[in-house]
Amino acid sequence: HQHNELPAIVSLRNEELSMMEDALQRLHLDNARLETGERQASLDLQRRSSHNSNDISIPKEQLGTENAIMRLEARKRSLSPEFAEQRRARQSLPAWRERQNVVDAVSNHRVVVLTGETGCGKTTQVPQYVLEEAELQGSGAEVHIVVTQPRRIAAISVAERVAWERGEALGKSVGYAIRLESSLPRARGSILYCTTGILLHRLQRTDGLAGVSHVIIDEVHERDVDTDFLLVVIRELLNHSPSLRVVIMSATLDASVFTRYFGGCPLVNIPGRTYPVRVYNLDDLPELMGRFFLPASRPAHGGSLDEEDVDVDLIVSVIVWVSQIFAQGDGAILCFLPGWDTISIVRDRLLKVHASRFMMVVPLHSQLPAGEQRAAFSRAPSGMRKVVLATNIAETSVTIDDVVYVVDSGKIKEKQYDVSRNLTTMRVQWTSQASARQRQGRAGRVQAGYCFQLYSEATFLSMLNHQIPEMQRVPLEEICLQIKAILSPSTVVGGKAKTAEVDTPEESKVGTNGIATFLSKAIQPPTAFSVYAAIQVLQQLGAIDQFENLTPLGRALARLTVHPRFGKMLVYGALLGCLDPLLTIAAAACFRDPFVSPLNRREEADHVRASFGTGVSYGSDQLAFVNAFQQWKSAESNYRGHTFCEENFLVFTTMRLIAGMRTQFERTLREAGLCEPHVQSTMNPVVSAHLARSLLAAGLYPNIVRSEHFRESKGMKNATKHAYRWRLGFRGQSGRVFLHPTSVLSEKNLNPSSNYYLVFQEKVQTSQVFIRGCTLLPPLAMVLLGWNITVSKDISTGTTPTPNGDWMLLRVEGWLSFFIDHRAGLLLLQL
Ligand code: CDP
Ligand code: MG
Repeated sequence: HQHNELPAIVSLRNEELSMMEDALQRLHLDNARLETGERQASLDLQRRSSHNSNDISIPKEQLGTENAIMRLEARKRSLSPEFAEQRRARQSLPAWRERQNVVDAVSNHRVVVLTGETGCGKTTQVPQYVLEEAELQGSGAEVHIVVTQPRRIAAISVAERVAWERGEALGKSVGYAIRLESSLPRARGSILYCTTGILLHRLQRTDGLAGVSHVIIDEVHERDVDTDFLLVVIRELLNHSPSLRVVIMSATLDASVFTRYFGGCPLVNIPGRTYPVRVYNLDDLPELMGRFFLPASRPAHGGSLDEEDVDVDLIVSVIVWVSQIFAQGDGAILCFLPGWDTISIVRDRLLKVHASRFMMVVPLHSQLPAGEQRAAFSRAPSGMRKVVLATNIAETSVTIDDVVYVVDSGKIKEKQYDVSRNLTTMRVQWTSQASARQRQGRAGRVQAGYCFQLYSEATFLSMLNHQIPEMQRVPLEEICLQIKAILSPSTVVGGKAKTAEVDTPEESKVGTNGIATFLSKAIQPPTAFSVYAAIQVLQQLGAIDQFENLTPLGRALARLTVHPRFGKMLVYGALLGCLDPLLTIAAAACFRDPFVSPLNRREEADHVRASFGTGVSYGSDQLAFVNAFQQWKSAESNYRGHTFCEENFLVFTTMRLIAGMRTQFERTLREAGLCEPHVQSTMNPVVSAHLARSLLAAGLYPNIVRSEHFRESKGMKNATKHAYRWRLGFRGQSGRVFLHPTSVLSEKNLNPSSNYYLVFQEKVQTSQVFIRGCTLLPPLAMVLLGWNITVSKDISTGTTPTPNGDWMLLRVEGWLSFFIDHRAGLLLLQL
C-alpha cells in the first residue's frame, strides 16, 4: 500500500468496498445510538473497565472486527474522494515528506526528539502518523496517544482540526481534555490532546498512564514550568514502564538540550519550506531611509502608563515604521510588542493616523477571548491591509499565514518572582536571540519577506541566547507539592483516594527521593534557595511534615489544583461551615482577574468595581468579587449573565470558568470527605464575611501590612520651595508598598488617623511596589490565625487610643503592634 499515492478508488475490489460500507454503517449506527441516549451506558462501560477514562478496553472477541474496521477506515481516508480536501491539506505540509522517517524513528526508539518550524505539521500530523501506521498494521487498537499542550485554547483547536482531518466528530478517535472541559476519545486507538497540567494531575495516581502507549510532549521550547516538570517525571517513568514511547516536539532548531537530556536520543528534523527574509536593524537606517522611508512627522502620544512601563519612544518608532511600511508594497504586517498596554496605545494611534486609509488593525494577545484572537488569522477585506499587533504569542504558538513584514520591537514583558523579597516583577526587557530569530522567520511564510528590528546589532549580541526558563522565575510551592503527590501516588478506591503502598522507607527519606533531589534533575533546575523557600511554605501550611512526607492535608491540597495557600483556606472554610465565599475566592485565584478596565474607560470601570466593595464586602478585593459573582449568578439564572458582564466590566468567559472551578473544588472536597454533600450554609452573611477575612489571613500569612501616613515631596526635587503632600502607604516586613490602582480600597476612603491592617495576595513591582488582592483585617485574625506568632509580654495596659475601654498594646513578631481589647489580650496571653 502506497500511502502517498493520489486517489485510486478503482484499486479497491468490490467485495472490499461492500465490506467497508457494511462496517462503516455499523459504526454509524453505533454512534447514532450513543448520540440518542446510550451515552450513559458507554460511560458506565468506560468506568468499569478502567479508572483511566482514556483507556477503554473491549472484550477480546470483538478486537478482530474492530481492527478490520480501523484498517478499512484508514484505507478509506487515504483513498476515497470524500477525503480529498483533508488529504490535500495534509499532504501539502512539510511534515508529509518526513512521514516515514517519523514513523520509523518512533517505532525504533523509546524517545525521539522532533523539531520543525511552526506550522510544518508537528502537532496535528505526528500523532496521526503514529496512529495511522498502527491502524494499517492492525495494531491500531493498542495505540493510545496523549499529546500535551501548554495552552488550553491550543488543545481544543488542534483536536478539532485533527478530528476534521480524520473525517470524524470530536470524541471518537480524537479528543481533548483541559481543566473543566473535555471530550474524551471513545474509540480503540485514540489521540488525546490535553494540557500539561491535566497529565501531571493524572500522574498523581498509580494508574495515571494506564493504557497510554505514547506520550507526546509538545512545544517544549517554551520551557514553561509544567512542561519542564513533566520532562523530569517522564524521564523517571521510562525506567518503570517498559512499553511507553515518548516524543518530544520543539519549534526551534536548537534541540540538542533535549536530546542530551534524554541520553543522546535520536533527533528528527522536519525541514521547513520558507522564503528568504531580508533583515534590517537600526544599523541599516541610512539604507532604509533611501529605500523604504518617506518623510514622516512624529505622531504625538497619549494614554495611560500604568501596568506596564510603557516606553514612549518605542511606541513612536513602531508607529513611524508601520506607517512607512504601510505606504509601500502590500502584505500583512506583524508587530511584536511587549504587552497589552503598548498594544492598545499603538492600536489607538494607528487607527487615528490611518483612519481613512484602509488599515485593519488587529491585536493578538493570549488573554483575548478565542473569538477575538481569530480575527488575526482572517484575511483583510480587499482594499485593506492587515496590521497585527502581537505579543510573543505569535512567535511560535500561532501562525498568521499572510505576513510579509515583521516589525520587531525586540521587547518582551516577563514575569519574574524574587523569592527573597516575596516580590513579583513585571518588566519589559530585551527578548532573547532565539526569539528574535524566531520573530524574523514569521515574515517568510508566503513569499519573500522583510523584518525590521528596532534595535542595533550590538543590542542583539547583548541579548541572552535563550530566555530564562519559567521554572527559575516562579514560586515553586505548587510544583513541590505535586512532586510529593507523584512520588507517593494514590490509587482510587470507591471514589476516595487511598495512598498506595509504595512509600518505602527509602522514599520517605529526605535527600534520596526528596523534593530538592527531584527538582535538581530538571533541565535547568531552580535555585536551591527557591526550593527551600517553597518547602518551608508547605511545611508551615501543614501540607508536608518535617521529613517532607505528605500529610493527609497535603494530599487533599495536591488534588485541589490551586495554590496550596488557597487550598488550605478551602479546607478551613469547609470545616468552619463558611465554604461558599472561599470557593469563589479560590476559584478566582486560578484565573486572570475577571475585571477589565479598558484604557479609554478606566475611571468608569474602577468606579463600578469599587461599588462591589461595600456592605459586608467593605475594604476587600476578594469579598468585592464574591459579591460581584453572586450578583452575576442570579443574573445568569435569568439569562442576563452576558449583559451583567458588559455593564460591570467583567469577562463572561472567566466568570464561567470560575463557576466551573467552584463546582470542581466542591466535588474534590467532598471526595476527600471534607465537606458534606448538599448542606447549604445558613450562616449570617456578616459572620461569613468576617470569617472569610480571617481565613484569608490564615492562608496568606505573612503577607500582611500596616497602614502608615507619610509625607511625599511634590514636584521637582530642585525647586526652591518644597511642596509636600500626605500619602497613605503600607509597611510590611520589607519596606513600603502601595495599594494597586485596581483595588476597591483607595487612599481616599481610608481615614488617615486610623491604623489599618491588610492582607494581600501578591506584591508586584511595576513603576512602584504595589500590593494586589487586598483585604482589611480584624487585628485579632492575625494573632489567632497567623503562624509562628509570639505575643510579646511587652504590654502597656491602660493606654487608650479611644476615649473608652481598656486596651492592650500587643507586639507580634517584632514589627506588628496594635491595640486590642483588654479582655481579649488577657485571653491571648493565657493561650
Ligand atoms: O505544530 P506545528 O506548528 O508544526 O504545525 P500544526 O499545528 O500541526 O499545523 C499544521 C498546519 O495545520 C498549519 O499550518 C495550519 O495550516 C493547519 N492548522 C489549522 O488549520 N488549524 C489548526 N487549529 C491547527 C493547524
Ligand atoms: Mg505545534
